[in-house]
Amino acid sequence: MRITYRSAEAADAAQLLEYLKAVGGETDNLTFGAAGIPFTPEQEAALLERLAKSPHSRFFLALDGEKIVGNACVNGSDNPRFRHRRSLAVTVLRAYWGRGIGSRLMEQMIAFSREGGAELLSLEVRADNERAKALYRKYGFSSYGTFPKYFKLDGRCYDVDCMTLDLTAQAQPDRS
Ligand SMILES: CC(C)(COP(=O)(O)OP(=O)(O)OC[C@H]1O[C@@H](n2cnc3c(N)ncnc32)[C@H](O)[C@@H]1OP(=O)(O)O)[C@@H](O)C(=O)NCCC(=O)NCCS
Repeated sequence: MRITYRSAEAADAAQLLEYLKAVGGETDNLTFGAAGIPFTPEQEAALLERLAKSPHSRFFLALDGEKIVGNACVNGSDNPRFRHRRSLAVTVLRAYWGRGIGSRLMEQMIAFSREGGAELLSLEVRADNERAKALYRKYGFSSYGTFPKYFKLDGRCYDVDCMTLDLTAQAQPDRS
C-alpha cells in the first residue's frame, strides 16, 4: 500500500464529505458523527477552494489510490491578534490506523504552519483518546489544561485536553 499526500481541492468536495461521514461513524472522538458535517458539496468546494489559496489555513488529504483515507486541517485567522496561531485537526480511517498516516499528516500541518510563520499550534482532544494524545505528544504538544464537559454524547459529557505546541520554543518537533 502506497499512501500519497496532497492539499485538498474543490474537486475533492463530494468524496471528502462522504469520507467525513465514514470517519465520523467510526469513532466518538470527533465533533461530528455518522451524519458528517452539514455542508453541501458546493459549500464544501467553495471552502476547499478558499483554503487552497490561504497562507494560513489548509486541508490535507491522505489517499490510497484515489480513495481518501485520512485528512488534516490547519486553521488560521486573519485577525492580527490571532494571526500567530493555528488550530489543527486530524483523522484517519480506522482500517488504516497504525501505519504512520496520522504522523505524516501531523508533519505536513506543522511544516505548513512553520512556513506560514505560525508561532503557536493548538488542538483539543478527548481526554480519554490516548492514541491521539500519544500522536500529539510525539510531535512536542503538551497539555495546558482540561476543558470539562466539552462534548455531550448520548447523554454523557466528556472532557477534552487542550494542547499546544510553541513553534518558537524548539527548532524542530520532538520525535523521540
Ligand atoms: C488519532 C489518529 C489520527 C492516529 O492516526 P494513525 O494513522 O493511526 O497514527 P500513526 O500510525 O501515525 O501513529 C501515531 C502514534 O499514535 C500512537 N499509537 C499508535 N497506536 C497506539 C495505540 N494502540 N495506543 C496508544 N497510542 C498509539 C503512537 O504514539 C504512534 O506513533 P509511533 O508509531 O511513532 O509510536 C487516528 O487513530 C484517528 O483518526 N482516530 C480517530 C479520530 C481521532 O481521534 N482524531 C483525533 C481527534 S483530536
